Amino acid sequence: MSTSTPPDPMPPATSSPNRLPLLLACIVLIAAFQYPLLINWVSSRGDNATAGEITSAVGQRGKALAALAGFSRYKQRSQNTIHEKRSKFNKLPWAQKKLTNYPHKLSLALQTVEENSLLAKDIVTFGLEAYNISAYELRAYMKMNRTAGDHSSVVQALKHYVRDWAAGGAHERDAVFPQILKAMEDRGGRVLVPGAGLGRLAYELAAQGAEVTANEFSVYVSMAYQYMMSLNGSNPRAEAGMYKFHPNVNWWSHQRDTAGLLKGVEVPDILPDEKVLKRMKMVDGDFVTMFLPQESEAFDTVVTLFFIDTARNIVAYLETIHKLLKPGGWWINLGPLLYGTNPSIELGLDEVLEVTKKLGFELLPIGEEWGTETFPDDERWAGKVRGTLAGYSWDPDNLSRNAYQAQGWIAKKL
Ligand SMILES: C[S@@+](CC[C@H](N)C(=O)[O-])C[C@H]1O[C@@H](n2cnc3c(N)ncnc32)[C@H](O)[C@@H]1O
Repeated sequence: MSTSTPPDPMPPATSSPNRLPLLLACIVLIAAFQYPLLINWVSSRGDNATAGEITSAVGQRGKALAALAGFSRYKQRSQNTIHEKRSKFNKLPWAQKKLTNYPHKLSLALQTVEENSLLAKDIVTFGLEAYNISAYELRAYMKMNRTAGDHSSVVQALKHYVRDWAAGGAHERDAVFPQILKAMEDRGGRVLVPGAGLGRLAYELAAQGAEVTANEFSVYVSMAYQYMMSLNGSNPRAEAGMYKFHPNVNWWSHQRDTAGLLKGVEVPDILPDEKVLKRMKMVDGDFVTMFLPQESEAFDTVVTLFFIDTARNIVAYLETIHKLLKPGGWWINLGPLLYGTNPSIELGLDEVLEVTKKLGFELLPIGEEWGTETFPDDERWAGKVRGTLAGYSWDPDNLSRNAYQAQGWIAKKL
């Protein structure tokens, strides 16, 4: 049996040293440790959010952090891909290696990635401010999420600068913009452009006088769009052609020559006009859940360009378009039927048109500027549905051709 005196479980306060600084230090330490975990939780909620939840600030913030991480990692990841190409090449037999100038091409490709990363970096700087995220928060998030940010979403978003905001994308825009803009001439009113991409069509509609709401589900794309719109007259840094963007360096297939692989495209071709931008806004999120019911029957026109086939459930898209339009409002569509990931239903064009009619739309006659008739012998759709060959992310200088017989119509809500 021990005879020693047990320690006093609670010594009198007067005899203890002042523990307050120690306590404060502990709180600071715990907070510093927990903060990245909190950021991580916020972001993972965003990544796992269902379509209904992504409209919440928490979900969008998480998605924004992931997109920012992706743009921040663009340079490193693109360079890694080129380094991998180099190490694979290095393993070839010497006799084969000496037949090509491949290492030189790899070195040049690294330089073009460097140039592309300037645009990615500026999107990050802009995005931090736009989404009210500090550089510290992003760093903490990236530290905790070493693989966060989807590289292919970044590459795709950057590539869309060519489709929308470079002279090099004019061949794509010229195939699909003129007929839509002609139909909208003098129409004005409130126009919704869901799946707006980098927003050039939305911008051109606003330039014609419409009040345009652009909507985009992908935060990667939306951030790139918003950055583009910030390059207007009020931005002293903004200049047409301020970036030399190399669209092919992340995709080596189908290149005719090294010059084509490495070619640079000047971005942007024009600076958005501030007066036009006053008639535009961007709504981030899923088109099906973002607007209803508060914007029911609010729009004079809904314009869908290369959009309706992004739906998991195309019927839900058509219902949404119908509900958002005022009676007498127009739905203008132009695009293919290339169904994406895991659709619940894959309707043919005839079925899409049947559903459109059953929902309460009437197709209007459209002119030859919309292309050739798709159903010349069917009295339901003759003269009202036309197709035109339209490319998408397609470089005339390379050896592939990516194009669709894009289907156009104007449907009036009865
Ligand atoms: C094929 S792209 C077309 C972009 C643009 N309209 C164009 O023609 O360049 C389809 C776009 O729709 C967006 N999107 C897909 N599902 C969406 C949804 N449910 N709500 C809003 N946008 C969506 C995608 O992120 C993508 O930017």
